[in-house]
Amino acid sequence: MQKIIILDFGSQTTQLIGRRVRELDTFCEILPYNKYPEDDSDVIGVILSGSPFSVHDPEAFKVDLSRFVGRLPVLGICYGAQFISHTLGGKVEKADSREYGRANLQTVDTTDPLFRGFDQNSQVWMSHGDTITAIPDGFHVIASTKDVTNAAFTASPKNGNPSGGGEPGSSPSGRLGGASIWAVQFHPEVYHTLQGKTLLKNFVVDICGSRQEWSAASFVDTTVAELKAQLGDDRVILGLSGGVDSSVAAVLLNRAIGDRLTCIFVDHGMLRKNEFQQVMDDYRCLGLNVVGVDASQKFFSDLAGVTDPEQKRKIIGRDFVEVFNEQAKQLINSTSDETIENSQLSNGKFKWLAQGTIYPDRIESLNITGKVIKSHHNVGGLPKEMNLQLCEPLKWLFKDEVRRVGRQLGMPEHLITRHPFPGPGLAVRILGDITPEKVRILQDADDIYIRGLREYVCDDGETLYNKVWQAGAILLSTVRSVGVMGDERTYEHPVALRAVTSTDAMTADWAHLPYDFMAKVSNEIINKVRGVNRVCYDISSKPPATIEWE
Ligand code: XMP
Repeated sequence: MQKIIILDFGSQTTQLIGRRVRELDTFCEILPYNKYPEDDSDVIGVILSGSPFSVHDPEAFKVDLSRFVGRLPVLGICYGAQFISHTLGGKVEKADSREYGRANLQTVDTTDPLFRGFDQNSQVWMSHGDTITAIPDGFHVIASTKDVTNAAFTASPKNGNPSGGGEPGSSPSGRLGGASIWAVQFHPEVYHTLQGKTLLKNFVVDICGSRQEWSAASFVDTTVAELKAQLGDDRVILGLSGGVDSSVAAVLLNRAIGDRLTCIFVDHGMLRKNEFQQVMDDYRCLGLNVVGVDASQKFFSDLAGVTDPEQKRKIIGRDFVEVFNEQAKQLINSTSDETIENSQLSNGKFKWLAQGTIYPDRIESLNITGKVIKSHHNVGGLPKEMNLQLCEPLKWLFKDEVRRVGRQLGMPEHLITRHPFPGPGLAVRILGDITPEKVRILQDADDIYIRGLREYVCDDGETLYNKVWQAGAILLSTVRSVGVMGDERTYEHPVALRAVTSTDAMTADWAHLPYDFMAKVSNEIINKVRGVNRVCYDISSKPPATIEWE
């Protein structure tokens, strides 16, 4: 399959470049700057990302451009542009002041294939401390802002037509001939570069010749075929959480291997109100083979009296692995060689553990100390003796792509648009020790809040639930305050409501919910939920706060 390689030099916006390329129905891989693949026969273009370093820093990340320059079209963004200039004989110098924010392209060469369709004065987003004061020989400038003469430059032949032979993307190889390099000092991937999508489309589609074949439908077809080939008659175990990723992974696997997939859904007792049953019903409607395990007693007894948030998390994590492994062992034993022989089962043994790991969980991100960090937090600790291999059918997808695949698979919208929910569940939303009674109080308050969000339709026809990234109630069980109900004085707990807008949970803003909605929900919670006499709304952003209270 055709792909674009994005070499990551450590910029915070590298993933965003990846998402933008995927939005162009083109597959891309984000790789650390020093991991350009040996075999690049599928690669149709290379993008060099930004970086927290200056090209003059001794520890700056470097790549050997000769690996691809001259053979494939290259686009350098910010540091990527500076690196191209610095390496090929141009000049990069410290700018008098860091240039940060909006700028306008005062001149732009719209005959260049990169800027085809651009408006004069188009707004771009700058964020750089160094500036390119001279471009290398053989390059020419194709855009400038008031302060940055070399805002974009290229070594592509004028008008993208080197020898008079063919239009961009239509040459025999589908690429421009010669050393086709483009470099932009600004960030086309960010929202504030108003025609950034046009620029990336020009590069990916027109210049690199993407056939734009990457879609939810093609992903489902190829992945189902690959899973069939990979898994044969083997059986697969998958842990479900009720969340989008594991649910979509399960439906995809089910499509490939039917009931040779067995899912395990553990109820630790701290899910949302009625959630265990509802999710089990949803899964059964989807035709999934699910073992539901009610392990709430174990979790509650192990958590009794524990107040430290980290300690609570550790206990829940440990118990979860224990319960899951016990179930997995039972399943594996039930299809041991002996059982299969005795029962003449034609289907195979459990050989695989499937997980809903998605691409951002796996991307090797670079931090500014230069160390490569591999984040793979989804991988649980299954004992070696189970001998299971890992199967991660969503490992190439971004979150929005997982949702598109879910829709393609015909999953119900309420499963697909479900808010993220932490693995330890309501345990991270109860301050103080955890008891079944406190969970009951929080479930009731949370249920009123979430139902309210789902029912409130805004002027644009969208529900409040769909407008926010995530919402939930928090029980401040270590706090009591005085209230009055009828003629009675009360001394009960407050509940805090949290709702945030976000795109990736790395940063978040508190959602500006309408006052009439808050008034209604607050009234309903205080009137109906025994144990609560006050409702507050959390107006902290992340950072410096976090989404969960813990
Ligand atoms: P914070 O509180 O760090 O949360 O701002 C960021 C996002 O992560 C979710 N979260 C978790 N998800 N297991 C999960 O699967 C966890 O232990 C966990 N802790 C936090 C949180 O709900 C938010 O979406």
